Amino acid sequence: MTAYLKMDEPDRRNRLDSMAQGVIGQPLDRMEGPLKVSGTARYAHEWPVERLCHAVLVRSTIARGHVVRIDRSPVEAMDGVLAVIDDDRLLRNPAQGTAGKAPVQGPREIFYVGQPLALVVAESFEQARHAATQLRIETMATEAVLDPESESTDRERPEGKQTSQGDLDRAMAEASHSIDAVYHTPGHSSAAMEPHAAIAQWDGDDLTVHASCQMLKYNQEELADALGIDAGRVRIVSPYVGGGFGSKLGIAHDAVAAAIAARAVGRPVALALSRRQVFETTMRRSESRQRIRLAADADGLLTGLGHEALVSQLPGETFSEPVAQATHFLYAAENREIIHEIVRLNRTCAGSVRAPGEAIGMTVLETAMDELAVKAGIDPVALRKRNIPDKDPEDQRPFSSHMLDQALDRGAELFDWQRRRPEPRSTRRGEWLIGLGMSSAARVNSLMQAESRVTLGGEGVRIETDMTDIGTGTYTVLAQIAGEMLGVPMDRITTVLGDTDLPPGPGSGGSWGASSTGSAVYVACEEIRARIARKLGCRAEDLTLKDGHAITGNRSTALGELIGDAPISVRGVVEPGGTSKKVRQSTYGAFFAEVAVNDVTAEVRVRRMLGVFAAGRILNAKTARSQCLGGMTFGIGMALTEELIHDPRDGSIVNRDLAEYHLPVNADVPQLEVELLEERDPWASPIQAKGIGELGISGAAACINNAVFNACGVRVRSYPVTLDKIL
Ligand code: MOS
Repeated sequence: MTAYLKMDEPDRRNRLDSMAQGVIGQPLDRMEGPLKVSGTARYAHEWPVERLCHAVLVRSTIARGHVVRIDRSPVEAMDGVLAVIDDDRLLRNPAQGTAGKAPVQGPREIFYVGQPLALVVAESFEQARHAATQLRIETMATEAVLDPESESTDRERPEGKQTSQGDLDRAMAEASHSIDAVYHTPGHSSAAMEPHAAIAQWDGDDLTVHASCQMLKYNQEELADALGIDAGRVRIVSPYVGGGFGSKLGIAHDAVAAAIAARAVGRPVALALSRRQVFETTMRRSESRQRIRLAADADGLLTGLGHEALVSQLPGETFSEPVAQATHFLYAAENREIIHEIVRLNRTCAGSVRAPGEAIGMTVLETAMDELAVKAGIDPVALRKRNIPDKDPEDQRPFSSHMLDQALDRGAELFDWQRRRPEPRSTRRGEWLIGLGMSSAARVNSLMQAESRVTLGGEGVRIETDMTDIGTGTYTVLAQIAGEMLGVPMDRITTVLGDTDLPPGPGSGGSWGASSTGSAVYVACEEIRARIARKLGCRAEDLTLKDGHAITGNRSTALGELIGDAPISVRGVVEPGGTSKKVRQSTYGAFFAEVAVNDVTAEVRVRRMLGVFAAGRILNAKTARSQCLGGMTFGIGMALTEELIHDPRDGSIVNRDLAEYHLPVNADVPQLEVELLEERDPWASPIQAKGIGELGISGAAACINNAVFNACGVRVRSYPVTLDKIL
C-alpha cells in the first residue's frame, strides 16, 4: 500500500499541531546518542568481516599530466601484498554530478595533486601502507592552471545564474551612499571527524559496501556507474555517519577503490582515507573573489545591488559554488547585476561544503551591508529591515513564509543591541577593544522526493528508509513525527536507516533531509490513521491517537488489540510540486556577536554570539538548536581561522590535516545562544517544516567581522580575519 503526496498546493491544516501525543517539537535526546558516546555505534570501517584485507591509495604528486608507467612488480613481491591495482576507474572522480554521465577524463589523466592513481592491497593495513610508499609511478607533467585569478585564464558564465535588471552603473552614479568593494574567501575543507572509509564485499556479481555516505540512493547509482555495473547489484549500508558537511554527498574514492580491490583479490577489502587524503581527494569548497556594489538613497534604501563572484573548479565538472544564491532575493533594489563566473583549475575537485553558496555569499554581502551602514550613518539592523522586499525582487514571486524582520528585531532585543556604540574604538577593557556586529541569515529551502515505510504493529511502530543520520538527529525526528501522528510513545518506535535496500530518499544534504523524509513518514502515517478510522467506523478527523490508544467519542481501544497480528504497513511518498515554483522559499535569521580585539596583538576573541532563526516548524527543539550551534561554530571558523592554503607551485593543499587546518575548538567558542522562532510554512512541506541544517552558518562569519570593525575600526575584506590583516 502506497500513500502519495505531490506538493502542489500549500497545506494550511497544520495537522501536527492538533495531534494529542505532544511529542513533536519536544527537545528529546537523540535516540542513538548512547550508542555513539559508548563507542558501540558501528561506523563504516568497524564492521566485523571475515578474511578482510586492506587497501591503501597512492596519490599523484603532480598537478596535471598523465601516468606513463607504474612499476608494480617490486611492490607485488613485498610481504603480505596481494595486489597492486592501477585500474583507470580509480583515477576518475567518482562523484561527477549526475550518475550515468560519461567520465570527463581521458585514460590515465591527472588533474590535481592528491588524485588517486593506484591502489595497494595487502593482508594487513600496515603492510599495505608501507608498500604504498614504495610504489614508483612514472608520470608526464603538462602545464597546470594554478592561479584562480589569472587574467589569462578563460572564465565561464553558466546560464541561469546571471541577473541583469535595470541600470546598476547609473544607480551607482546617482546614489547618495555607495559601496564598491572586492572581497575574498578562501577554500574550506568539510573536515568531518570520521574519515571516508569503506568495506567492500562481493557475493558473485552482487556488491555490498559499508561506507560513510550522505545520500544513499544517489551514491548507489554513482558507485554502480563508476564500476560499470548495474545499480541493482549494489547495496550500500551506512547507518551511522561521523559527519559529512558535504564531503559525503557524492560517493568518494574509498568506496570505488575498495570495490575494485575486493573484486581483484576475491576477498572483502577495507579502505580508509588517511586524514591527509581526506583533505586532498574529497571535495573542497572553492575559494572566491566577490565584488559587491551597493547603491542607496539618503535613507539607506537600496537602489542598486551588484554581486559578481568568481569560483574555481576542475575541468569538466558541472558543479560550481552558487555564491549569489541568496543575493537574488534577500534585499530589494531595482537595478541588479549578478554575475557568476567559473575558472578551470588544477586543484582538488570543488564541491558542496556546509551551505554551498550562502555560507560565503551571504557572509560577503553582509560584510558589504555593514560597510554601507557605516557610510550612510544608519544602524545596521535598521538598514536591513528597511530593505526587506515584499516579494522576490527579481521574479516577483511571493515569499512562502518570511521572518527576517522578526528575527532582526528579536535578536536586537535579546542582544541588547541598542547599547552598541557605532563609533569604532569606543569601548575598551584594558588592552582589549570591544565591538558588536550583526548580519542577516538566509538559506534557500527545498523539498525533495522521498519515501519511507511505516509499519504499525501490535508492539509499536517501525520506520524504514534509506535516509541517513549524519549526526543531525534523523533517527529521533522521524520517530517524533510517527509518534505524534500515531499516538505511540517514543520507546515503542524503531527507526531503521542507512541501507539502500530500504525505501529511497534524498538523503542528508542541502538542509532538506528532515523536512523531506519527515514528510514521507507523515504521509504514510496519515494513511495509517485513515485505516484505523475505517476499522473503528469513524472519520479520521474524529480519531484521537494517544499513548497507544485509539479514542473516538467515548470509546478507547488499545492499538495492539485493534491491530492484532495484522500490522498495517504503508509506504509514504512525497514529491515536490507546484509549491516549489509558485513561491520563493527560504529560511531566515539574524546573527549578533560581541568580540574583543587586542589593541596590541590584534588577536580576536569572540565573547558572545547569538543566532535567531525561523525555519518553519521545529521538529525537535534540541536537535534543531544543536544544528544551529554547529553552524555558528563553523561560522566562527570561517570568520577567524579556516583556510585551505594551496602551494602556488603545484596547487597542492599545504595544510592538509586537523593540526594545520584550524577549525574552531572549545577555547574559540564562547557562550553561544540560539533562539528559534515559531513559524509554520504551509508551502514548504506537509509538515510545515523547512530546512535548518545549514542556516546557522549562512552569513554567520560576517557578524564577527562586522564586530571586529566596530571594535577597532579596521575593515577586513579577505576572510579569515587573522591578526596580520588587522595590524
Ligand atoms: Mo550539504 S554541503 O548539502 O551536506
